[in-house]
Amino acid sequence: MVKRVVASAPGKIILFGEHAVVYGEPAVAVAIDRRARVIVEERGDFEVRISAPDLSLEAGFDLERVLSEDSFSFFEIPQRLKNVVRAVEVSLNACNLKRGLNIEINSDIPPSAGLGSSASVAVATVAAVGKCLTGDSWESEKVSKLAFEAEKIVHGAPSGIDNTISAYGGGIIFQQGKIERLDIGAQVSIVIGDTKVERSTKKLVSHVRSICEKYPLIGLPIIRLIGSLTLEGVERLKTGDFEGVGELMDINQGLLDALGVSHLSLSRLIFAAREAGAYGAKLSGAGGGGCMIALMSPENAKNVLEAIEMSGGRAVPTAFSMRGVTVESEE
Ligand code: PMV
Repeated sequence: MVKRVVASAPGKIILFGEHAVVYGEPAVAVAIDRRARVIVEERGDFEVRISAPDLSLEAGFDLERVLSEDSFSFFEIPQRLKNVVRAVEVSLNACNLKRGLNIEINSDIPPSAGLGSSASVAVATVAAVGKCLTGDSWESEKVSKLAFEAEKIVHGAPSGIDNTISAYGGGIIFQQGKIERLDIGAQVSIVIGDTKVERSTKKLVSHVRSICEKYPLIGLPIIRLIGSLTLEGVERLKTGDFEGVGELMDINQGLLDALGVSHLSLSRLIFAAREAGAYGAKLSGAGGGGCMIALMSPENAKNVLEAIEMSGGRAVPTAFSMRGVTVESEE
């Protein structure tokens, strides 16, 4: 039986379609080369101890007590670790086992920034617990499905795009839980700009819902338009028309702004990136702060990076990553 496992999972960017994807429209997500790493060790008792040293967070609970309750109580668990607790619970249920565990989380994905940090932690936790307790490396599909339960703790009613891309890696077109693989060519570069403004995905998703309810003849057509734009973007990505992709990213940004999920800090970085020669730029994820992304030719990446830094953002050089959830080591 494996006693100590390290698993990792990538963060993501959304090229097209965030928010609209919650309403069943397609979206395009790509995994990035920043990852969450989770170490799981079996204990000899029924305690679960979770630590996230980077965030100075710790939590612990007794499986005997928690799993015997109908409705899961998160009493005294720090907000940022609630999804991990849930990921542990669903993984133990899937194994049909009750075992004490030590769980350590490390991540180089900025949290609450739209880069899918919570989903990648949940995905890596599920994979590590599964491997530690059963000896099996679970399929991406199974890991994603279990991590989705943990995502609900953070987002309320998530579309499932974050856990899916983190489990599968690469590029995907995601719609209503279904995925199609998408190959993004190496002829193009992406730069992430972090506004350093924290925000809540849950609140932003509910803001869009309130707009759609209050102005159904305006909000919902914008959502549908984002869906059409995403499909057009997919065609341009497939043919390598990156100027077209950039133009569509700019339109997508305008529509997200219309839904009220942009932010002055995002606009500053987005306009700076466009002026520095990016094909296009937009927020990525829920918006309201967090991160923006810019697409450009590899030769132009340095200019865009500098422009983002000059405008007060933290440029995060990044590369696409084909690697989804991975068991990195086991002892
Ligand atoms: O968690 P974030 O900020 O990466 O946003 C996820 C994308 C949304 O479309 C805004 C929400 C969802 O569940 O799809």
